[in-house]
Amino acid sequence: MALLEVEDLKVHFHTRHGVVKAVDGVSFSLNQGDVLGIVGESGSGKSVACLSLLGLVPSPPARVAGRALLNGQDLLGLDGDRLRQIRGRKISVIFQEPMTSLNPYLKIGAQLMEVLTTHERIPAADARSRSEAMLGRVGIPDPGIRMDQYPHQFSGGMRQRVMIAMALLAKPDVLVADEPTTALDVTIQAQILELIRDLQRELGMAVILISHAMGVVAEMSAQILVMYAGRIVERGAPADLFRKPLHPYTRALMDSMPAPTDGGSAAERQGCRERPVAGRRKRLAAIPGTPPDPANLPAGCPFAPRCPYVLDICRKTDPEERPAPENSGRTFRCHVDI
Ligand SMILES: Nc1ncnc2c1ncn2[C@@H]1O[C@H](COP(=O)(O)OP(=O)(O)OP(=O)(O)O)[C@@H](O)[C@H]1O
Ligand SMILES: [Mg+2]
Repeated sequence: MALLEVEDLKVHFHTRHGVVKAVDGVSFSLNQGDVLGIVGESGSGKSVACLSLLGLVPSPPARVAGRALLNGQDLLGLDGDRLRQIRGRKISVIFQEPMTSLNPYLKIGAQLMEVLTTHERIPAADARSRSEAMLGRVGIPDPGIRMDQYPHQFSGGMRQRVMIAMALLAKPDVLVADEPTTALDVTIQAQILELIRDLQRELGMAVILISHAMGVVAEMSAQILVMYAGRIVERGAPADLFRKPLHPYTRALMDSMPAPTDGGSAAERQGCRERPVAGRRKRLAAIPGTPPDPANLPAGCPFAPRCPYVLDICRKTDPEERPAPENSGRTFRCHVDI
């Protein structure tokens, strides 16, 4: 049995402007120690898909359907108290917007130690030393001093690292890292991803890594889900996706990745890691057009209006998910063989 089995997850927001199908029939599974990447443009449903598993999307207006079995237990049926027990201990989230998640009136150290003491019976001195060590590991200098400071004494990037430390201290079975490094500078980004990867190996933790950037997820994940307009349009191992994307949207995402600059690592040569160019990002080839309004999806394939390979059928019939010809667990949703 998989650690986490998500089946036909739907999250529909009933708004004044209509029904926003933020997530529309998403299925995936995750085993212990797996790293699963989710990639897609802004608004594709990455955050809502993961946060709905933990009861963290506002409901109403959200209507959540499907199943999400964690060790066989359906998370979608649980009440608030049971979900709170699962959050942190079984599944931790590094939120995309972390700035509001720390208590401004409590010292950083106390907030970190609380993660340990609510889940384990351990002496305060141990909780303190483990918290301090984790602060050091996420790259906070002088962690011993920092433990006794308040959130306002930390920069935005440092607060993000504190949130990461909190999520990791709990040693969850599953870590959901929602754009964990977007707000951080490039050196720290690499350091944090490295840390997540180290801990993932050390603890056998499963990780769901969400990002706009194909490079970031490709480097870490064994499997990638490409999301568009609330659905998975392609799934597969990064090497397979890079060798030959089967969905035009995957191809467009790859074309929008920064080109490798010089030699660099193998991953960098493959274009798997974003590198700064003379202190700034290289200009990307943006994907032409914009994602559809999720309250008003076009008939047929939602990518059709932007797709360079579009056929008549694409504007009429939404393609079903189908296995790739090589059938390596890889699937895609497209009428066209690109
Ligand atoms: N509370 C809400 N009410 C109505 N619509 C919502 C709500 N929350 C999210 N949405 C919509 O759901 C869709 C998916 O949003 P989501 O935040 O999951 O996107 P995302 O892929 O995480 O994007 P980003 O990369 O910008 O974080 C978007 O169209 C968003 O506007
Ligand atoms: Mg998001």
